[in-house]
Parts: sequence; C-alpha cells; structure tokens
Amino acid sequence: KAAEYVTDGSIVGVGTGSTVAFFIAALGRMKDRIEGAVSSSVKSTERLKSHGIEVEELNNVGDLPVYIDGADEVTEHGAMIKGGGGALTREKIVAAVGRKFVCIVDQTKLVPVLGRFPLPVEPELRQGFTTDNGNVILDVSGLAIEDPVALETTINQIAGVVTVGLFAHRGADVILLGAETGVRTLTPSGR
Ligand code: A5P
Repeated sequence: KAAEYVTDGSIVGVGTGSTVAFFIAALGRMKDRIEGAVSSSVKSTERLKSHGIEVEELNNVGDLPVYIDGADEVTEHGAMIKGGGGALTREKIVAAVGRKFVCIVDQTKLVPVLGRFPLPVEPELRQGFTTDNGNVILDVSGLAIEDPVALETTINQIAGVVTVGLFAHRGADVILLGAETGVRTLTPSGR
C-alpha cells in the first residue's frame, strides 16, 4: 500500500525499522521506476543497496515528494513516538524535507495518548557510540503525552539534547494501519 505513494522518477525518503524493511523489499520490486532513495540510517542504507536501490545524500537531493517510515506509537492526529530503533535524529531530518510523511504501522501502534512506549531522547555523550551519530539515548518511561507539540518543543530546548523521538511538529500526513483484514488509511492532515 505504501508503494502507491511513490511517484515515478522520484527520490524516495526511507525510514528505519522492521516495518520499513517490508517497504524496502517492495521498493526493490519497483526500483526501475524510481531514481533512488534517501535513507535515515546505516541499516536502511545497507538494506536499500542490497535491493539494488541507489542511495543519495540528502544534501544532493532537491525534492523529496514522500517520506515513508514506521513508528513506535501514533495518534489519529499523526503525532508519533519514534526512535525505538535509535534512528530518530536522521529520521527527523529526512522527514522535515519530505513533502508527505506516510507512516506505516500495524494497528496495535495506534494510541489515543502517546507515552506508553518509552520516549527516546538522543543527547551527546563524551564517549561511547551507540546511535549512527555516535550519541546515546535516554528512554523516558511513564509519560502520558497529552500535548505532543508542546513536549517536543520543551525537550528540544534542553541544552545537549540532539533530538527527541516525538514527531508532532512534523507528524504523519497519512497513516497506513495494517490489520488481519487489510489496510485502513487515516489522513490526519487532510491531504
Ligand atoms: C527507528 O528509530 C524507529 O523510529 C522506527 O521507525 C520505529 O521504531 C518502528 O520500528 P518497527 O517498524 O521495527 O516497529
């Protein structure tokens, strides 16, 4: 279903995770129709290349019609917790460039309030490398995030924080919810 959002001849923004792995496989089957992909992580870059898909540097890409990524939690308004796989910083950068964010999740990830999934916050540490950017992640448990936009702003303003895995300012435009019976499509931004 997500492949239907890919336009011919374009560069596709590709996220990270086990759900995205299925999308990359689908993209591999239509690789002759696209120019290439921009990837949000080392893992996805490797996977894209293994499917014969050209991976471009974001800096060299003028237009990114669509960014397709999974999420750890998503509300019907399109706000998401992401970063369970540790790729939140690059995901947020690529998502900011993408004109449309298509979020692919199974139906268990649709929640009324974000926060049951521990919120990943990526700060910089002087030593040790864990994320692709060489930083560590604090997982903040026990939250009930009633106002995702406000909390994203607040955490981003803490000195030393690189990124928080709240994707509310740039939320999902389309949510494709996979279920046993098929795919349900939600369009929080109305486009
Ligand atoms: C990666 O850092 C995350 O933002 C993923 O998008 C998220 O964890 C979803 O991954 P799964 O599709 O593997 O659940």
